[in-house]
Amino acid sequence: MFLLAFLATQSPLLRLKTALQTTKNAPSNAGIGGATLRIRRGYTSYNAYIERQVNKTLNPKLRKIWRTRDWDRKIKVFARVFQSLKRRKLIFNESKALSIGARVGQEVAAMKMVGVSDAVGIDLVPYPPLVMKGDFHAQPFQNQAFDFEFSNVFDHALYPWKFVGEIERTLKPGGVCVLHVAVTRRGDKYSANDLYSVQPLSELFKESELLEVRKVDAFGLDTEVVFRKKKTIKN
Ligand SMILES: *[C@@H]1O[C@H](CO)[C@@H](O)[C@H](O)[C@H]1NC(C)=O
Ligand SMILES: *[C@@H]1O[C@H](CO)[C@@H](O)[C@H](O)[C@H]1NC(C)=O
Repeated sequence: MFLLAFLATQSPLLRLKTALQTTKNAPSNAGIGGATLRIRRGYTSYNAYIERQVNKTLNPKLRKIWRTRDWDRKIKVFARVFQSLKRRKLIFNESKALSIGARVGQEVAAMKMVGVSDAVGIDLVPYPPLVMKGDFHAQPFQNQAFDFEFSNVFDHALYPWKFVGEIERTLKPGGVCVLHVAVTRRGDKYSANDLYSVQPLSELFKESELLEVRKVDAFGLDTEVVFRKKKTIKN
């Protein structure tokens, strides 16, 4: 018991908790102590977390399913998602678009299919040409690179404020971010956080306004949340 308690005090997550409460970048009520966004315990270090995520992405069985049985099914659903976003004038053929946590690139392929030709994905494991290597905690892009960013892997973020901070950094002013999240059911064993409402997202997106929250039925994720990065930031 003592040993466990000792280990706990040494864990990065505990330090994280302190950081959450003291860093101005990290909203205290979205943190571990809050009720609506919880960082999962159990990662001893950032490297252990990355290794586990890479493990999932590299799992040969999963990869095969993603590229075969899953491919058409996912593309169809995502094409519908992006068509709908086009109708709502949130993404355009000309948009420079990013898919975050893109696995083998189904969402990227779907964006291209609906006419968004300048689309790319990032994931820890690259899958060229659709998906390049990149950690969403530190996106490999310059500031204001994209008009549109999509992700359905928010629950995989160990540092949700970095995940969001990087999106806001790489979006152009006026750019749109669409997240698919689960607020009524839990993620999988690879999830690094649990979200219980949309509110913590609004707090994390400091440079953006919340445009829309609607229901979706997208592979276990139930809520589509749309943010637009503000054109001018008042400090
Ligand atoms: C990664 O996967 C291998 C089997 O594919 C397993 O033996 C190993 O323990 C896994 N590592 C982590 C960190 O999950
Ligand atoms: C966008 O691209 C699609 C597919 O290439 C095309 O059918 C459509 O006409 C284009 N829309 C506009 C507004 O250019």
